[in-house]
Amino acid sequence: MNCFSWNHSLRCWHRSNDGGSPCSPCSQAAQSSMGMRRRSEQQQAEAAGVGAGGAKKFTLAQLSAATDGFHESNLVGEGGFGRVYRGRLLVDQGVGPVAVKQLCHGGAQGTREFLVECMMLMMLHHPNLVSLVGYCADAGERLLVYEFLPRGSLDAHLFGGGDCGRRQEPPLGWGARVRIALGAARGLRYLHEVVTPPVIYRDLKASNILLDDDLNPKLSDFGLAKLGPIGDDTHVSTRVMGTYGYCAPDYAMSGKLNVKSDVYSFGVVLLELITGRRAFDAARSAPEEQRLLLWARPYLNLAGDRRRCFALADPALQGRYPRRAFYQLAVVTSLCLRDNPNLRPSMTDVTQALDHVASQSQPWEDKQRAMPD
Ligand SMILES: Nc1ncnc2c1ncn2[C@@H]1O[C@H](COP(=O)(O)OP(=O)(O)OP(=O)(O)O)[C@@H](O)[C@H]1O
Ligand SMILES: [Mg+2]
Repeated sequence: MNCFSWNHSLRCWHRSNDGGSPCSPCSQAAQSSMGMRRRSEQQQAEAAGVGAGGAKKFTLAQLSAATDGFHESNLVGEGGFGRVYRGRLLVDQGVGPVAVKQLCHGGAQGTREFLVECMMLMMLHHPNLVSLVGYCADAGERLLVYEFLPRGSLDAHLFGGGDCGRRQEPPLGWGARVRIALGAARGLRYLHEVVTPPVIYRDLKASNILLDDDLNPKLSDFGLAKLGPIGDDTHVSTRVMGTYGYCAPDYAMSGKLNVKSDVYSFGVVLLELITGRRAFDAARSAPEEQRLLLWARPYLNLAGDRRRCFALADPALQGRYPRRAFYQLAVVTSLCLRDNPNLRPSMTDVTQALDHVASQSQPWEDKQRAMPD
């Protein structure tokens, strides 16, 4: 590392001082007593139709009314698991916007993912994770109700096309990209290093990073999330799941999963943020251009000539980025993408490095703002 050092000694500090909710499970003991408190709270809450963690149980009729009968005009997106609609529901402080995801995935896998997502989001609370408002499990239907993130997915912002019903927005500037990277890193750090046992997200990708009005990022889609290893275990063994292009090669080959698998996926998202290119883009004709990692590797080899990394820059940035901060972000990216998972940084390391990149970028942004167009 040339410009900044990774500080491994700060790891423990973050376990009890993260920006997450005060009820973040910080120890096994705290978790088990919280579990007991949750059970009695849950019994009272169920009578009021509220699940654990504040998530509300809705009927299909309520969600249908909220989305005008799942009307096409309310469709905001569609993924592999189903369609997502904008709706309006009576939540905490009054009627507010929500996103209603109607899962189409049948069978045991679909049920498992629905349950995992409900359980995870009921327990996990952090400003950079999407909040679960409630769920519906009426007669074989499975729906999830989330807070509504008005600016849609990072995917749509970076690669265009726009989410359904949303207008195309101008390309993200450098400062916004760094802040999105930092927020997403904080969300992952919470999962890996604050929650006990750690949670491995397993599906980090640009389409699962949603943006609020101020472009603050929130991680969504916890259906593939998995509890990480505890004690002396270094990994959990699982069926390989995730999205092509984002999956760590060691996990893809061995099925051995640990938090460093997420760090690799985070590196891929950083690379997408820098380059404006998709992790995998079948629309490109040359095979070495289709796979972002293949294309970017030579420019990420930063030994020797630093300037090599500027060839990675998204043309949509039009050269408007601070060189030093760009180089630092390229270094963080290459560390996250190391083949050996043990050599990848922790998310605390990454968050600190991105904090540094953000502070390096700020004076540049201020100067840009002060300049006439
Ligand atoms: N809470 C939300 N608020 C606003 N829009 C949302 C919300 N959740 C999802 N969306 C929209 O719906 C789209 C589809 O999301 P979904 O998670 O179903 O699929 P995906 O992430 O694109 O793909 P995959 O099936 O691989 O997860 C998102 O890109 C986003 O535009
Ligand atoms: Mg998704």
